[in-house]
Amino acid sequence: MARRSSERPTTRRAPSAWPTTGLSYGGDYNPEQWAPEVWREDVRLMREAGVNIVTLGVFSWGLLEPRQGEYDWGWFDEVIGLLHDSGIAIDLATPTAAPPSWLLHEHPEILPVDADGVREQPGGRLGWCASSPVFREHALRITTALAERYGDHPAVRLWHVSNELGGGNARCYCEVTAARFREWLRAEYGTVEAVNAAWGTAFWGHTFTDLDHIEPPRREQHKVNPGLFLDFERFSSDELLGHYLAEAAVLRAHSEAPVTTNFMVGSGRHVVDYSDWARHVDVVANDHYTIVNDPVREQDLAFAADRMRGLTADRTPWLLMEHSTGAPSWQQRNRAKAPGEILRNALAHVARGSDGAMFFQWRASTAGAEQFHSAMLPHAGTESRVWREIVQLGDALRRLRGVAGSPVEPAKVALLVDEESAWALQQGLKPHRALRYTRETRLWHRVFWQRQVLVDVLPVDADLDGYDLVVLPTLFVVSDAQAARIEAFVRDGGTALVTYLSGVVDGTGRVRGGGYPGAFRDLLGITTEEFRPLQEGETVRLSDGGEVTDWTEDTNLHGAEAVVAYADGNSAGRAAVARHAVGEGAAWYVAAQLPLGSAERIADRLIDELGLPRAVEASSGIEAVRRRTPDGDVLFLVNHSDADETVAVSGQSLLDDASFDGKAVVPAGGVVVLREGAAE
Ligand code: GLA
Repeated sequence: MARRSSERPTTRRAPSAWPTTGLSYGGDYNPEQWAPEVWREDVRLMREAGVNIVTLGVFSWGLLEPRQGEYDWGWFDEVIGLLHDSGIAIDLATPTAAPPSWLLHEHPEILPVDADGVREQPGGRLGWCASSPVFREHALRITTALAERYGDHPAVRLWHVSNELGGGNARCYCEVTAARFREWLRAEYGTVEAVNAAWGTAFWGHTFTDLDHIEPPRREQHKVNPGLFLDFERFSSDELLGHYLAEAAVLRAHSEAPVTTNFMVGSGRHVVDYSDWARHVDVVANDHYTIVNDPVREQDLAFAADRMRGLTADRTPWLLMEHSTGAPSWQQRNRAKAPGEILRNALAHVARGSDGAMFFQWRASTAGAEQFHSAMLPHAGTESRVWREIVQLGDALRRLRGVAGSPVEPAKVALLVDEESAWALQQGLKPHRALRYTRETRLWHRVFWQRQVLVDVLPVDADLDGYDLVVLPTLFVVSDAQAARIEAFVRDGGTALVTYLSGVVDGTGRVRGGGYPGAFRDLLGITTEEFRPLQEGETVRLSDGGEVTDWTEDTNLHGAEAVVAYADGNSAGRAAVARHAVGEGAAWYVAAQLPLGSAERIADRLIDELGLPRAVEASSGIEAVRRRTPDGDVLFLVNHSDADETVAVSGQSLLDDASFDGKAVVPAGGVVVLREGAAE
């Protein structure tokens, strides 16, 4: 069986100094779009806003190396000098997300090829195939030149490898990639017989007689073998990671500054295996954009932030590398933020462990593909609400500098997220193709988020010591070793909540026989003899009054007790939710796609039975998280509702002079941050 890439050694360097003193504040800075007089105004306004770091150079390759091997550093030296003189740190990007036009012109073969065999055209970005040796050579040349020139520069405090790797070039199906895929398979499996056995190629007569006959899963409409599909996803993630590692090695050879790349963790597609990638960045960094038609967009933000924290080594701070001050420009109807939302969003990330808040981008572009994307300095200039809120946020982050470096209080709930399960579930002839992996991960995070119970969103192989509850939403791909770890966690007194479509296939994508949920059958004391996906518009009632859509199962109890049963339909009388006492702990199985109300009832019972700590007792509109500083706990209260909320707390506000003696009023849409203790 293919080994998980997470079994390979980490290249993460021991945490070195954080790039800024205090919390990091700034954004992408693209000075090449502006005349030098504007750079001077930029730096002046950055200081006015309290900006202490910018990401520089993301799109600068074509100007830094206008012809192969010919460099023009003059303008870049000047910008770097201006920033340095103003005390602004630089997160220096290798410009490889934006290959120059001469490179694309001379080597069109570096452009990615889609699953239908169509080669991309120049004109976008990340227009390169991660397997291309030609691109790699050019990318490492500019990276080396940049690192040699600025590796020791005192303003360069962080390296930013390329930009959103995989955002545009996540999969390539060209011949070069195909050859690399075969090499990957050879390294993982050794022989063609092993591949055949793992993928079950006897079906449909797909047995290979030579590894060289294997092709990537081209043409999406073709019904691909699930094992082949899953391995190609793993390979593609590894291939992009290989590119990151090659650039990172060059940077590390020339500089002591930490190295990162910006992840894209939000409600979208799982592009690469971040559980694995995180082990190779010195600072875990994310780009997060709220999505306009997400009914609980603040919870998506919290979920992404909790995932970032879960990807760090020992829950140390991470960095929000990009978010927006208002409307992005890549959605259908781009939504401007409401007054106060900039502060609310930024501080929610900080509350959850980001040691800063950064944006795309500093100054709004007037030309180019993103000319209507919001920025810290909007087209309207400084006479604008956005600018006033940006100055206000800079002030808030300066006042909150004491939280820098502090951990978020330990969570008692872990929720496991697994890219491999997301990939496998989305592909092929699965029982219900409209199911979305993120629906279940978000649901189970949401019910705790609304109750101010902190959840660490963790990779599936993470250490579970210290947690009371572990939630496994649709953890479809599970190895024997992973299942054994969950079982040991429960036997030792933990509680596991496993939802439908978990444990169904092994690491090769092969169904585990003997009844679902395969890997967790014994632990859960229940089996499912048949899946019963519901049709569009079809609902099934539950004994708790809820109504199920989309997914039900014909379950049989083997030691578990039913908590909720199906009240009608073909599964009537069978358990929809069951609990099994095991060792010192308990294992719950949720066999249905529950409505929010039913999931909330389960969350309430678990909070009660396990004594899961709530940061404060407040209504569901209040988001509450603590960071543990050497000077005491700092409590963040974010009010997402349109009514003022009163919370029972005492302490000193860190954002203004207020003090709270037993209660704090968090204004509608507002934020209160206080150091807890007796009011002064
Ligand atoms: C991403 C990119 C940025 C920019 C923003 C726009 O996060 O990294 O360069 O394109 O999207 O929202």
